[in-house]
Amino acid sequence: MVFQELVFKGFGESSSSKQGTMMKQRLEGKVALITGAASGIGEETVKLFVENGAIVVAVDVQDELGSQVASSIGLDKVTYHHCDVRDEKQVEETVNLALKKHGRIDILFSNAGIIGSLSSILELDLNDFEKTMATNVVGAAATIKHAARAMVAKNIRGSIICTTSVSAIIGGTGPNGYTTSKHALLGLVKSACSELGGYGIRVNSISPFGVATPLSCTAFNLEPHEVEDTSSSYANLKGIVLKAKHIAEAALFLASDQSVYISGHNLVVDGGFSVVHNTSTTKPNI
Ligand SMILES: NC(=O)c1ccc[n+]([C@@H]2O[C@H](COP(=O)([O-])OP(=O)(O)OC[C@H]3O[C@@H](n4cnc5c(N)ncnc54)[C@H](O)[C@@H]3O)[C@@H](O)[C@H]2O)c1
Repeated sequence: MVFQELVFKGFGESSSSKQGTMMKQRLEGKVALITGAASGIGEETVKLFVENGAIVVAVDVQDELGSQVASSIGLDKVTYHHCDVRDEKQVEETVNLALKKHGRIDILFSNAGIIGSLSSILELDLNDFEKTMATNVVGAAATIKHAARAMVAKNIRGSIICTTSVSAIIGGTGPNGYTTSKHALLGLVKSACSELGGYGIRVNSISPFGVATPLSCTAFNLEPHEVEDTSSSYANLKGIVLKAKHIAEAALFLASDQSVYISGHNLVVDGGFSVVHNTSTTKPNI
């Protein structure tokens, strides 16, 4: 290889890898609080946020799994804390812990959720319904309240993101309690957005379609590949399987400065499932 080629190749490689590293650091210097971080979408988001330079405070009720997630990524980048989002005191303590350790919270990914039991409205178990609302709505409200207070107190133009669902915009894709809770959560996002915009805080949500995680597999009694096959068959977009990392990427976008003017938005990640109803008369032969 001649000198010129070496120099060119050398510079080319180092500058492109430097560019790659710079491109990756979309959350450099930011502190993120992620709920439901021990598994599924939350776990994937912890990994992606850390890869992008964030320090993450990961919380969940599955302590063993949560601690494993933190130690597998690196305890200098992720700390795990037990926090049941249904308990406001635990939420407040977690926010205070994050402030004590890192001095600030820039991003809240309020993602913890349960699906509840699949039952007919005619046989509705109201205890199960209330439990779902307590986790998915009241838990998110408590988390937004305390994280937003921390942002306001430190004058931080933060980003709050909630995981809703396609069940937040249409009926019939999940249990009654789940669909109700996710519609309510979407209302909470809009309501919080209306007030927090005054402090420069953005509030958005992500509505995923079916992703193979313990939540969906257990609820529908399906293997991961069966959840993926079902989602793929209903989605309008073909040739790609929805994974937790796609939702994490949507969260990264909403958390980063690439979305500085986006607030009150519900980013639907469903391959067109909720907006297209193909019929034999409208579908071209492809
Ligand atoms: N998987 C899907 O198909 C799908 C689709 C749309 C929306 N979602 C939403 O995505 C979010 C994440 O779910 P997932 O699919 O990754 O499932 P998951 O079960 O893998 O993760 C959910 C996590 O939330 C935690 N959690 C539950 N209750 C909690 C509580 N009271 N306090 C703290 N943590 C709690 C669980 O322990 C679990 O680790 C949920 O809000 C869910 O409703 C999932």
